[in-house]
Amino acid sequence: MYLTQEEETILEGEYGPTLKKAMEILTTLGDIYGADSLIQINSAQIAGVSYKTIGDAGLEWISDLEGTVVVPSILNPAGMDMDRWQEMGVDADFASKQARIIEAYMRLGVRCECTCTPYYIDEELAAFGDHLAWSESSAISYANSVIGARTNREGGPSALSAALIGKTANYGYHLDENRVPTIGFEVDCKLTGADYGALGCLAGAEAGSGVPMFRLSSKPSKTELKALGAAMAASGAVALYHVEGITPESGLQEFPGETIIIERRQIDDVFDEGCGKGWGDGYRNGCGEEYVRGCQDEPDLVALGCPHYSASELEEVARLLEDHNPAKEVWICTSRMVRDANPGLVRRIEDSGAKVFVDTCMVVSPATDRFRCVLTDSGKAFKYVPNLCGVGARIAHINDCLAGDDGN
Ligand code: F3S
Repeated sequence: MYLTQEEETILEGEYGPTLKKAMEILTTLGDIYGADSLIQINSAQIAGVSYKTIGDAGLEWISDLEGTVVVPSILNPAGMDMDRWQEMGVDADFASKQARIIEAYMRLGVRCECTCTPYYIDEELAAFGDHLAWSESSAISYANSVIGARTNREGGPSALSAALIGKTANYGYHLDENRVPTIGFEVDCKLTGADYGALGCLAGAEAGSGVPMFRLSSKPSKTELKALGAAMAASGAVALYHVEGITPESGLQEFPGETIIIERRQIDDVFDEGCGKGWGDGYRNGCGEEYVRGCQDEPDLVALGCPHYSASELEEVARLLEDHNPAKEVWICTSRMVRDANPGLVRRIEDSGAKVFVDTCMVVSPATDRFRCVLTDSGKAFKYVPNLCGVGARIAHINDCLAGDDGN
């Protein structure tokens, strides 16, 4: 891979061990994937934040780094609401280690916004054609597909390396030839809301790491596209998709010859039974315990906001919770900035007894593990909660998630 003289100098260690290590990570990836050079990035979104996922080894690694990021950089959700962790049921030892992780990132100049929806907090982080180094799978999918920016599925260390150097290796989804659809999906029934998460569960399992292109008979909103991409990133490894006539690069692409028809019955099956193909018969959680798919328990937590909710989604929740209290404990996850910009909506939601948590989510927080079964409107959470929390999950439309004792 071609390196400029300055890049060579960084690689030789003249700018210190942290930048040397960062350059080694970027050039190693570039060599593995056949990149011709490094390219400038516009922003970084860095995963590997929750103490639940990175543990003591990750905390130690981040704490040892020195330097300052040179592009706008924000964090993925942490393992707790940084202020309301006790209310979530997080213990003090976890909270103190989580705080040390955030402090270590802040020392490197990373913004302490812990969210998987960076595009809601700053539009300048990603625009059409921008090269990025993002690492949360739903954010990657949204950036590539809905915004038309370009990012690979970065790991936490490679995204942080890119943030420190301001560049990433030029391969994968940065190149036109890897943005061409590989599999088509036709859906001829009307879809709305959580249907898109269910469709994502089905399509992601079929598409794997390919690039799906959809021909839909409904016109999805950006919120619905967010749900579709998030679910495909969880049930498969989809980082980019196109929707004919909707997403910004779809007009540049031919609809693929290999096409799968998805019917209403299959979408309904996801709500009734969970997603079939590609899901296996059971999960093993982090402790190696077998967890059988298909939650038989009555859900005892409603968890919304995967990916983190926008202001308009908070508005919808506030409207649905008007005049009644939900029958179960309800968490709504969003970013700190969206919460702070919408105090009236947050108050209306929390007046019902539901909680609006920021900086975190139901998947990366250990607080979810004490529940038996999570009810969610998200295809991604539906897939990940059993896998990563060892807790059952069901998916439903948002009005069903927020129904009161009387079912209304
Ligand atoms: Fe975001 Fe957590 Fe879902 S990181 S996409 S809310 S699993």
